[in-house]
Amino acid sequence: MQYTTPLRTLTIVKYPDPLLKKKSQPVEKPGPALHALIRHMTSTMDANDGVGLAAPQIGLSQCIIVVKDVDKNHGFFNPQILKESRDTNIDEEGCLSLPGIFLKIKRASEVMLVAQTPNGKTMKIVAKGLGARIFQHEIDHLRGKLIIDRVSPWKRLKLRKKLKELNP
Ligand code: CO
Repeated sequence: MQYTTPLRTLTIVKYPDPLLKKKSQPVEKPGPALHALIRHMTSTMDANDGVGLAAPQIGLSQCIIVVKDVDKNHGFFNPQILKESRDTNIDEEGCLSLPGIFLKIKRASEVMLVAQTPNGKTMKIVAKGLGARIFQHEIDHLRGKLIIDRVSPWKRLKLRKKLKELNP
C-alpha cells in the first residue's frame, strides 16, 4: 500500500481547553481507514519531541493514542488497562498540553492492556518501565485526566501561578 497523504503536524490542544477534560468516545471501526490519522498524530508527536499523544490533544474526543516504543511508533485504538501491578514507581512526567510543567507522578510499574491496532487486530500488550508509564499517561487523557489531576492539592496550589501563565 502506498501513502500519498502528506504528513501533517497538527496543532496541540493546550490546557485549560475544556476538550482535555472530556471523556473520549470509543472508535467504532478501528482499522486502516484511520491509518492517515495515526501517521499525522505520530508526526505531530515527533515534531514536538513527545513520547506519546492522545487524540483529545489534537482536538478529537476519540479513544486513539500513539505511543513511542523504543525504536518504532505504534497507534492504538480503544486501549483499556486490564491489570496493573501493585508495584509502583515515581518519575517525572511532562505533557505536550501543559508546556513547561514537569511533575513527579506515581504509576503502576507494569500494566496489561488490550487495544486494537491500525491493522484491525485486537492485541494484548504487557508494558513495563517507560512504556507502562506512557500508556497510563495517554489512557488518562482519554478519561479527561491530566498529570495536574494526579498530584496532591498542596502541590497543585503551588502550581497555580504556572498554570495561570498557560491561561493568559
Ligand atoms: Co499528556
